[in-house]
Amino acid sequence: MSRKLEAGPKALLSEVKIRQRVRELGAQITQDYKGKDLVVVCVLKGSFIFFADLIRCIDLPISCEFMGVSSYGSGTVSSGEVKITLDLTEPVQGRHILIVEDIVDSGLTMKYLVNNLTTRKPASIRCASLLVKPESVENEVDVEYTGFQIGKEFVIGYGLDYAGRFRQLPYVGIFEQEN
Ligand code: PRP
Repeated sequence: MSRKLEAGPKALLSEVKIRQRVRELGAQITQDYKGKDLVVVCVLKGSFIFFADLIRCIDLPISCEFMGVSSYGSGTVSSGEVKITLDLTEPVQGRHILIVEDIVDSGLTMKYLVNNLTTRKPASIRCASLLVKPESVENEVDVEYTGFQIGKEFVIGYGLDYAGRFRQLPYVGIFEQEN
């Protein structure tokens, strides 16, 4: 293995910083949903690591559900048209939904998910995202549980990929071409 690979991509958020923030979010969610029927939805693939850590910090009898989504269109900018590749396995009518994302970038995916799940008549829908980029503001997406606001850098690790790679990095790093 080359020295560069051993050193790994430059860190933006360390494991320690992420762990601490995830614990805080879990405690907040535990407080907010006490006595409620909460369904926590993992949006695949990117959020699987954040989701796994977050749910273990929620001290409530939650249900876990998974949704697979893929953006239509080519290029690096999301078209906002999302195809559901894996759907919930349980009805959510009358239940509280928390959608868990790794990143809200343009906000179009989250907006689509909120609109789609609203049609299933849940008691409420809120969003949690480890990372939120400033562009999401333009699409009026409310993320009640935000891990970190970040800038425009291309981030990888802790579930986030570049061309399918780097998801297993234990921290959030900045992608640079030589990575
Ligand atoms: C990423 C991320 C969100 C979406 C955010 O998914 O996990 O779902 O993009 O972008 P937006 O706010 O601009 O819509 P991606 O399409 O990379 O798929 P993946 O989760 O399988 O990596």
